[in-house]
Amino acid sequence: QTIYLSEYKVPAYLVDQVDLRFELFEDGARVHSTLTVRRNPDSGESAAPLFLHGDSLQLESVALNGSPLRTGEFEDRGDALVVPSVPEKFELQVVTWIEPQNNTRLEGLYKSSGMFCTQCEAEGFRCITFYPDRPDVMARFRTRIEADKSAYPVLLSNGNPVDNGELENGRHFVTWEDPFPKPAYLFALVAGDLVEKKDTFTTCSGRNIDLRMYVEPRNAKKCDFAMDALKRSMRWDEDVYGREYDLDIFMIVAVDDFNMGAMENKGLNIFNSSCVLASQETATDAAFQRIEAIVAHEYFHNWSGNRVTCRDWFQLSLKEGFTVFRDSQFSADMGSPTVKRIEDATLLRTAQFAEDAGPMAHPVRPASYMEISNFYTLTIYEKGAEVVRMIHNLLGDEMFRKGSDLYFQRHDGQAVTTDDFVRAMEDASGRDLGQFRLWYEQAGTPVVSVSDEYDESSGIYRLTVRQSIPDTPGQTGKKPQHIPFALGLLGADGQPLPLKLSGESGEAPLERVLELSQAEHCFEFEGLSERPVPSLLRDFSAPVRVHYPWTREQLLFLMSHDPDGFNRWDAGQRLAVDVIQSLVGAPESAGVEPRLVDAYRSLLQDSELDQALMAKMLQLPSEAYLIELAEQADVAAIHQAREKVLGYLAEGLRDELMACYRRNVGQGDYQLTPEAIARRSLRNTALGWLLHIGDQEALALAKEQFRGADNMTDRLGALRALVNSDFAEDRTQALEAFYKRFSDDPQVVELWFSVQASSDRAGQLPQIRQLLDHPAFDWKNPNKVRSVVGAFAAQNLAAFHNPDGSGYEFLAEQVCRLDDSNPQIAARLVAPLTRWRKFAPGYSKQMKSALERIRDKAELSRDVYEVVHKSLAD
Ligand code: ARG
Ligand code: ZN
Repeated sequence: QTIYLSEYKVPAYLVDQVDLRFELFEDGARVHSTLTVRRNPDSGESAAPLFLHGDSLQLESVALNGSPLRTGEFEDRGDALVVPSVPEKFELQVVTWIEPQNNTRLEGLYKSSGMFCTQCEAEGFRCITFYPDRPDVMARFRTRIEADKSAYPVLLSNGNPVDNGELENGRHFVTWEDPFPKPAYLFALVAGDLVEKKDTFTTCSGRNIDLRMYVEPRNAKKCDFAMDALKRSMRWDEDVYGREYDLDIFMIVAVDDFNMGAMENKGLNIFNSSCVLASQETATDAAFQRIEAIVAHEYFHNWSGNRVTCRDWFQLSLKEGFTVFRDSQFSADMGSPTVKRIEDATLLRTAQFAEDAGPMAHPVRPASYMEISNFYTLTIYEKGAEVVRMIHNLLGDEMFRKGSDLYFQRHDGQAVTTDDFVRAMEDASGRDLGQFRLWYEQAGTPVVSVSDEYDESSGIYRLTVRQSIPDTPGQTGKKPQHIPFALGLLGADGQPLPLKLSGESGEAPLERVLELSQAEHCFEFEGLSERPVPSLLRDFSAPVRVHYPWTREQLLFLMSHDPDGFNRWDAGQRLAVDVIQSLVGAPESAGVEPRLVDAYRSLLQDSELDQALMAKMLQLPSEAYLIELAEQADVAAIHQAREKVLGYLAEGLRDELMACYRRNVGQGDYQLTPEAIARRSLRNTALGWLLHIGDQEALALAKEQFRGADNMTDRLGALRALVNSDFAEDRTQALEAFYKRFSDDPQVVELWFSVQASSDRAGQLPQIRQLLDHPAFDWKNPNKVRSVVGAFAAQNLAAFHNPDGSGYEFLAEQVCRLDDSNPQIAARLVAPLTRWRKFAPGYSKQMKSALERIRDKAELSRDVYEVVHKSLAD
């Protein structure tokens, strides 16, 4: 059934205090819970029954103010415990029995490689005990954990340790107390045989914070980077947002089996191993950057999420959008801002735009859902972050900070809404964000179409800008939104021209942000002695699609002259897209635009250009992006056209690529600076392209780099190049050698799986099935599933979209198999099929029948049910 925002009601009862006692055993766990409850004075209902959520619990006993309740005095409905009549204030004691060792959903309390851990967001706490499991019920938690001392020497929960001791039978206990009231989704517990890595951080007010990481002993050497990133995050949040850490201890735990990336539990962040553990030998540059961003993200949640939390799950973007915005600012500050912007925009345009155009499209603040786990989406996170970024850009640095200060101060300790966030921004800045709020309410990606005319005699340049927002499921006839539209104009000499709006006096700026609010605007710029080339939506100032009829000439010009680094990159992408699209479905004899080769040649030879930007500019648009841009995607034709362009570029630039490789090889000690990362990216791109065309000299270099690399970026870069080449024997040898070397490191084995699964050479369906039979593959481990099944369906598009439909059937089979054990992961894997309407008829028909096959599975989980039924609805 569907849950609606419009039906929100304040909770009838509030919980002030939760006392938990966990008895952990090998065959299960007993959870003793004592809740101190009172009627909510703000709730109209005076004699409401007490309603507690539950999921997969065995109720052992329930008592009210110390007296056991008898049959008839309570109702155990399976998914709820209801006590029809309770006093105004009372204590409720509930004892439940759960089986963490059999919990394959990885929600609530479960076991992962011998340790106990939890994941409670969004609704996992109800798998631990009966509780009003909603974020607007905030309580103080006290947690006592009891377990066998030799198997579980480390016992952790939120807050501060306040007591510990020995028990009979070799058991022991630790008690934790969290002074900050919190919703149950922020509860966490960990018990295991873990090593502790310690550090400290001195806050801006001089308090010393104990920092601790807990990992399995074999991972002890992989903690330094995350610990450092944590300290950088803590400092940055003080400097940029004035946010100081509040407890005396902050802990990070790494676990191997985890549905998502990480979780911001108060004082006890739990991470997917792949998002926190790293070493030079085992992690790529991309992994280091992801770890830095996620460590920061979870830490920043301490304020944007924990101190100020969400009233209900429709408000999820309140914490996620804001926190992603904060972590992206942080990453930009730590590395190359332009590159970070390019990466964010690429993710948005490739994946979020696709979501916004598909059957699961929803606003940043959804109005309804069936299963909240399905709404941890690119729209909530990434588009939500773009919405906050637009507020930041509309208000400016200073006013935005004033607004965030007001937000944190006004709502500290509260569970609030996205509207409260926007109101704080309005109140602090004096700006009216009334129309802007539509960004939270309307789904779909706005399309901004620009046309222009230049009148030589008057020197006037007229821009007509129209916006429209496509219909999405359940939403039609949308209103125009408030869109900050940054632009500049370039003269033929490549110099920026002043943007003087007609009738304006004073010095005109070289860049401006036009604020669109109507369906159509006409802007007149005067004093222009030549027809300018427009540089539109600079720095990706809004999450919209821009249409303007750029000529290839103009794109080439912007690619080398635009002072906005983002738009320089974007011009190159648009040009490459245009060239590839013109070859889609064209006869084999059709030629590739020769100016593209010239453009890439000048790029490779441009010694002035920021190398990090160059590395990004050399990446051709992905197949996924090309599919997203297509009306009715013909995957095979897109794949062929892109391969053809890649081959043509590599042939035409063979010597330049070899020079680029040699120029960027062997630069001393391994470093993680943007420059060093750019060099590795450049040499590995060059290597990949050269192997793509079967260059023998490059083959020798790749083998040498594969053997001799002192870091994973280079080793994997060489492996990837070999795997994606036609040197079949070398590919096999390299894959074997790689596995042999790293077979005892699960994270590297995941890389090994995904390099194969995402390659159209090594990852055709029969090979994928072999990977599933590999001894290192494990259906219970989400990372393994993602690295084979996920990588195949999301990154190996030519193989997944095999015209015979076998890829779709395969995915349907795996979704059905996972649906019973881990519905969250199963629902996520369905995503590639949900886009069936986007594809040419030969594909879409078969994708649809794969969805129908999933729909017809017996006992479909709510997670998969929602995705499949919404995808098939008309
Ligand atoms: N709040 C976590 C984060 O953003 C993600 C938790 C996801 N949980 C889930 N059940 N989908 O870091
Ligand atoms: Zn988050």
